[in-house]
Amino acid sequence: MPRIVRFHELGGPEVLRIEQVDILPPGPGEIQIRVKALGLNRAEALMRAGQYLESPALPSSLGFEAAGEVASLGLGVDGFRLGDAVSVIPPLSQAQWPTYAEIINFPAYLVVKHPESLGWEAAAALWMPYLTAYGALVDIARAGPGDFIAITAASSSVGLAAIQIARQAGAHPIAITRTSAKVPALREQGATDVIACQEQDLAGSLNLITGGKQVRVVLDAVGGPNFTPLADAMAPGGILFSYGGLSGQPTPYPLAQVLAKNLTLRGYLVHEITGNPAKLDNAKRFILEGLRKGDLTPVIDKIFPFDEIADAHRHLESNQQFGKIVVRIAPL
Ligand SMILES: NC(=O)c1ccc[n+]([C@@H]2O[C@H](COP(=O)([O-])OP(=O)(O)OC[C@H]3O[C@@H](n4cnc5c(N)ncnc54)[C@H](OP(=O)(O)O)[C@@H]3O)[C@@H](O)[C@H]2O)c1
Repeated sequence: MPRIVRFHELGGPEVLRIEQVDILPPGPGEIQIRVKALGLNRAEALMRAGQYLESPALPSSLGFEAAGEVASLGLGVDGFRLGDAVSVIPPLSQAQWPTYAEIINFPAYLVVKHPESLGWEAAAALWMPYLTAYGALVDIARAGPGDFIAITAASSSVGLAAIQIARQAGAHPIAITRTSAKVPALREQGATDVIACQEQDLAGSLNLITGGKQVRVVLDAVGGPNFTPLADAMAPGGILFSYGGLSGQPTPYPLAQVLAKNLTLRGYLVHEITGNPAKLDNAKRFILEGLRKGDLTPVIDKIFPFDEIADAHRHLESNQQFGKIVVRIAPL
């Protein structure tokens, strides 16, 4: 029987258990995938702890990203063949369509044939980061040449994807990281400037970097007290995407800056893109083309074996990572 990761109670990484379960054949419109690698996301740690947007019914499985081989096809599925190398677009519900398993059934419209040359680990580290960054920066903000784009939690998988996409658009990605530890690596990844926000004055550094032009787009996964200095450094008409709450602290509303500069403060979820078939098609084309041209390259932090899923979650929550944490599944 295939193995799946489940949790029967909410809590820390130790609640994750690997269990053997029967997997049904794929239903109509579904594809069964023999998973080779999974990509980890903050949303899964939050789900396990009972702090995510979605409340799991226990026991629950979890996971948003995976890559593997097509093992069988449900009724009505065409365009795929057994053995195809595929990866999955993050579904709306990770409880309903979890990826932390050796075998998964997935709706065919969320399954993509990726270039085989990519490898399983990179293919499992692809869709959540690039779709999230693409949706905000390209689909909504229309980032382009000359734009200054401030990216918080820059060493997260989404942050690094945003740096690459901003570069591709001809914009200036300014990476914001907590300390100077990851500054050289962020420069190597293409950030035109890097700010260590626990060691430097954030608004002052942003103003210095932009030379008074100010920041047109902010992609913020952190919230908390840094919200105000970010708004301070924004250009009139700028847009601030609030897409995560890593700080865990109350986030002030920068009323004076919003009023004085006509700022747009906007919540954003990747499902705005994945839930819209036309937008999703454009996004897939953009990302696959970026991979082909070499403008986009997933950054993998560390690979864990499936048996060490709890350690992989501990590493995620250590915040030491640079890029995507991946779990490799050995052949059955
Ligand atoms: N809205 C959406 O649709 C969507 C989609 C995907 C992800 N997200 C959100 O995007 C964020 C990144 O997710 P991820 O899975 O790519 O990466 P992740 O593994 O959660 O990112 C970890 C990085 O975030 C930074 N960080 C962690 N705690 C922090 C804190 N308290 N204050 C400031 N920075 C902190 C650190 O970077 P430094 O060491 O560089 O400071 C750390 O290396 C999460 O908040 C996630 O929930 C949202």
